[in-house]
Amino acid sequence: PQVDPFDLVIFGGTGDLAMRKLLPALLHRYADGQIQAGSRVIGVAREGLDDEGYRAQVREALAGSHARLEEFLGLVHYRPLDARKDEGWKEFAELIAAEPGHVRVFYLSTSPELFEDICNRLGSHGLNQGQSRVVLEKPIGRDLESANRINDAVGRVFAESQTFRIDHYLGKETVQNLLALRFGNALFEPLWNAGHIDHVQITVAETLGVGRRGAYYDRAGALRDMVQNHMLQLLCMVAMEPPASLSPDAVRDEKLKVLHALKPIDGHNAAQLTVRGQYRAGVAEGQKVPGYLEELDGKHSDTETFVALKAEIANWRWAGVPFYLRTGKRLAERVSEIVVAFKPVPHSIFDAAGPLAQNRLVLRLQPDEGVKLWLTIKHPGPGGLRLRHVPLDMSFAEAFGVQQPDAYERLLLDVVRGNPTLFMRRDEVEAAWRWADPILDAWAASSEPPRPYAAGSWGPSAAVALIERDGRTWNEDSD
Ligand code: BG6
Repeated sequence: PQVDPFDLVIFGGTGDLAMRKLLPALLHRYADGQIQAGSRVIGVAREGLDDEGYRAQVREALAGSHARLEEFLGLVHYRPLDARKDEGWKEFAELIAAEPGHVRVFYLSTSPELFEDICNRLGSHGLNQGQSRVVLEKPIGRDLESANRINDAVGRVFAESQTFRIDHYLGKETVQNLLALRFGNALFEPLWNAGHIDHVQITVAETLGVGRRGAYYDRAGALRDMVQNHMLQLLCMVAMEPPASLSPDAVRDEKLKVLHALKPIDGHNAAQLTVRGQYRAGVAEGQKVPGYLEELDGKHSDTETFVALKAEIANWRWAGVPFYLRTGKRLAERVSEIVVAFKPVPHSIFDAAGPLAQNRLVLRLQPDEGVKLWLTIKHPGPGGLRLRHVPLDMSFAEAFGVQQPDAYERLLLDVVRGNPTLFMRRDEVEAAWRWADPILDAWAASSEPPRPYAAGSWGPSAAVALIERDGRTWNEDSD
């Protein structure tokens, strides 16, 4: 269904995220007929461009991505603005005011240091009117204190109900599928607890390095960039209690309880429960690639590009069930998955077969999105009862024959529709920082630098030791 006509203003309109994700997502939704022709996409940045100059940049960035690109460019506009200078804001306000009936979305895809200035200007120019919404890209701050400052500043202009804190992992098909799988089937929920689940693994492995984003990344690191937001959100989706409904607050209330129940990791136990790494030169996807420090032009840095950690949720459902999380840049493969590993059968009647393999439910987020349930079955044919471990395998692409939409496609339209279910509420962001801050403090206080790992490997060997110490292994079934 079509959404109401809207104006979507992208602050940071010439940036990486706008060009790689936001504009392509809008193009695809437009080409699918969901966005009406009268809608406007307005790029804003400091560069002195006009509409045509900006369209040329967008055209280049999106070349070949869809036959209707030229038509879509008709919706695209540009205004040069500096959050810290008055110039141009009055004209910008007039441009927005020219469509009083439109839903207004202000997407802040800039450094979070600018959020306050941008919101203040939007407020003082009377742009928070009617159906206005503000979208905040992650990371929101770099710790609890700075996140609070940003949220307070935004909150002075926009109500919480107008504020959409985006975590694009929540827009991924498989993540929403977790809701369908858990709460749309009678099969899983009775087993979804410490009585039957041995442990959970969440891996988000990337083959890319930090590339052009070094300036941002070096101030953030993997814990702030991936764990505090994306990975904790995935953990919440796995671990939360069944919400009473799909209403935004019902879902978010349950996620918040999980965040509150996370056991603290701090100076006392961080050395046992966390591993951080930094890539050195190596070979990624067949190419020789430089190390992280070389990419920073030889600057010294203790920023981690890899994290593995063992989290625990101290509540009745999950007591004693470890959640192993790992994420990193320049790893061996691009793969994101959630693995739910079940406990062994209480008594095996298959003595000769040795220990039975574990039942595992694997939710693959990318690439090749799908769900696999690993089972033990009898190997067909005569020759005794030989057992095999095989997956019930459902690939979304094969089953539905369609290209999965990018997460941003879904989420941008949710903003326009005003549906915040898949966005983070302020208290969630705060709870996530409250858990992450002591880890960051412990690392900062430690004299040990991040462990080196070769680009193209699976990270430092200590990450393998972290899970093997507990008699478990990282999932490796890639077939
Ligand atoms: C972003 C991080 O939020 O997520 C990036 O800032 C990371 O560092 C990206 O590469 C990963 O997203 P995806 O959708 O490619 O898995």
